[in-house]
Amino acid sequence: MSWSRSSWRGLRSPHIPEYPDPEALRAVEDTLKNYPPLVFAGEVRQLKAELARVADGDGFILQAGDCAETFADFNTFNVRDTFRLMLQMALILTFVGEKPVTRIGRVAGQFAKPRSNATEPSADGDDILTYRGDMINGFGATAASRAPDPGRMERAYFQSAATLNLLRAFAGGGYADMHTAGKWLLDFVENGRARKKYELLAKKIHKTLNVMRAYDDGGREPARQRIDFYSSHEALFLPYEEALCRNDSLTGDPVAASAHFIWIGERTRDPNGPHVEFLRGVINPIGIKCGPDAQPGSPERLLEKLNPLNEGGRITIILRAGADRAERAFSRIIRELQAAGRKVAWCVDPMHGNTRTVDRGIKTRMLSDILRESKTFIDVCRAENVHPGGFHLEMTGKNVTECVGREVGRDDLAKNYDSCCDPRLNASQALEFAFETAGHLSRG
Ligand code: PEP
Ligand code: CO
Repeated sequence: MSWSRSSWRGLRSPHIPEYPDPEALRAVEDTLKNYPPLVFAGEVRQLKAELARVADGDGFILQAGDCAETFADFNTFNVRDTFRLMLQMALILTFVGEKPVTRIGRVAGQFAKPRSNATEPSADGDDILTYRGDMINGFGATAASRAPDPGRMERAYFQSAATLNLLRAFAGGGYADMHTAGKWLLDFVENGRARKKYELLAKKIHKTLNVMRAYDDGGREPARQRIDFYSSHEALFLPYEEALCRNDSLTGDPVAASAHFIWIGERTRDPNGPHVEFLRGVINPIGIKCGPDAQPGSPERLLEKLNPLNEGGRITIILRAGADRAERAFSRIIRELQAAGRKVAWCVDPMHGNTRTVDRGIKTRMLSDILRESKTFIDVCRAENVHPGGFHLEMTGKNVTECVGREVGRDDLAKNYDSCCDPRLNASQALEFAFETAGHLSRG
């Protein structure tokens, strides 16, 4: 079966909307085809090698960020705060788990969302298209704002480029230096348990590093001063992915140059659909979200298409079932792929199976459910003899009140609910998550 970067076009998906002016869409795609890649083949290969190590039991993945990035929320502080929070969480996991952590942001491209319904009623009762992410249409609930607008794709590209530029500077320019770990605390993280535990940890690390430096001859300690940080998003809007597909200049292999890591979602992992068709041809490491309703045999059919040579690091399975259904679903899927001899890194997304709607239609998640599903994941991995390879989270460094837990009660949700899509953990909740799961991992 021959593949090309446009071979997905023969297949339909309800998650790729029709444009009122397809010619205008084509024109933007042609423009993007000439723009520089956002990531490079060498970086993609390096990430794949790290993920291959995770699949072999050495290391963890921390993949986190917004449910959906937006144009309105784009500023230096938001990018910095989420980056900083990930540094803190990775530090906790590294210190407690004593294994390297691969940091992957849901960032610099996470602009397109799958929706269960194509339309919804507006305030006037008319049917309007649903919001599909800033790359496609506007959040405002009017027919005009919801019309797919191709210019948004170019804006998403430039925002992704600027975000990556900042992240590359933070990761390599001294900000991520572990000596400064004590200063990474976000200003608003309340004076509670997680903050105290983190301060203690940062002090210990500082001391350890000083001792090591005393033996180091004043060498430059590069590994402790700079880190690698990777980008990722759901490869949902294929016109954008195709326009950013490039060939590796060394080998000629096709690379999705929109992000280091891309994933297919729960709603787009049809082995015969356009998303799987596109992804099978690019060399990037890819994620597959896998929920409790996956038919027996379907994960293996997907892997036959997406990783026929069973290459390590190519596939990360991101399990997401909801706390109540996790145990059964996870053991079934793990057993199936183990029996088929599949090399994969196992991760859990404890967010998307735990969304619920409370008072007056607010979408939220309970930190307790998120922790329960994550601990179940660790327990099931152990019982099935596979390595629990990491966590995929929706969180932000902003002081939001979107998930219930720690200092946020059900009545507080409206105070600072800022997500245009799914509810995210705030910094205190995310730190609590890191300590709790790291503790559970170390008790193994
Ligand atoms: C997401 O990650 O934002 C998402 C929509 O997840 P899923 O495909 O697992 O529902
Ligand atoms: Co989401």
